[in-house]
Amino acid sequence: MDLYTVLAERRSIRKYLTDPVAPEKVQKILEAARLAPSWKNQQCWRFIVVRDQEKRERLSAALFADNPCVRAIKTAPVTIVLCADPKGAGDLDGKDYYMLDAGLAMQQLMLAAHAEGLGTCWVGAFFEAKAREVLQVPPAYRIVALTPLGVPAVQPPPRPRKELSEIVYAEEWGKPLF
Ligand SMILES: Cc1cc2nc3c(=O)[nH]c(=O)nc-3n(C[C@H](O)[C@H](O)[C@H](O)COP(=O)(O)O)c2cc1C
Repeated sequence: MDLYTVLAERRSIRKYLTDPVAPEKVQKILEAARLAPSWKNQQCWRFIVVRDQEKRERLSAALFADNPCVRAIKTAPVTIVLCADPKGAGDLDGKDYYMLDAGLAMQQLMLAAHAEGLGTCWVGAFFEAKAREVLQVPPAYRIVALTPLGVPAVQPPPRPRKELSEIVYAEEWGKPLF
């Protein structure tokens, strides 16, 4: 699938079928994440692949109660949990690059998943301490995000984006390019 098609078609998927996802597909998607750029190539990310139903139930309880992904974590056969070491990347002028590094890896993972016909949804609204307990993540690592991974039960319409004229300037702040 062409990259631009993947970019245009990917959606946050919150409804899944229970169909299994082959380990080879999960590995392929994780390989895509592994190729992401990172601060000084330090690759501060770690991924936990959770298939166990009981663990996924417990993880779903770590999400904010009103999070639309609660059911998705229970239904999709795989949850991927993204962890990162804050000391594994720079912190310039208060900009924590470990979050950026982790986000880049997750984006590559989400795009690769779509190319494989699978859905994902970045889940950020969860109680980290609860997820940490379920997964035994050591204190040195933050849990940045998680995503269900599975066969989408829906293909939602695209969510709106700002026009380029609202977000792009030419040469200096405020001068329109488009
Ligand atoms: C940092 C971040 C945190 C997010 N957290 C959640 C979340 O907790 N629950 C959820 O359902 N979606 C979450 N999302 C998904 C966004 O709502 C979604 O990307 C956005 O509405 C655009 O829709 P699209 O991904 O289908 O294009 C999150 C996305 C990002 C980037």
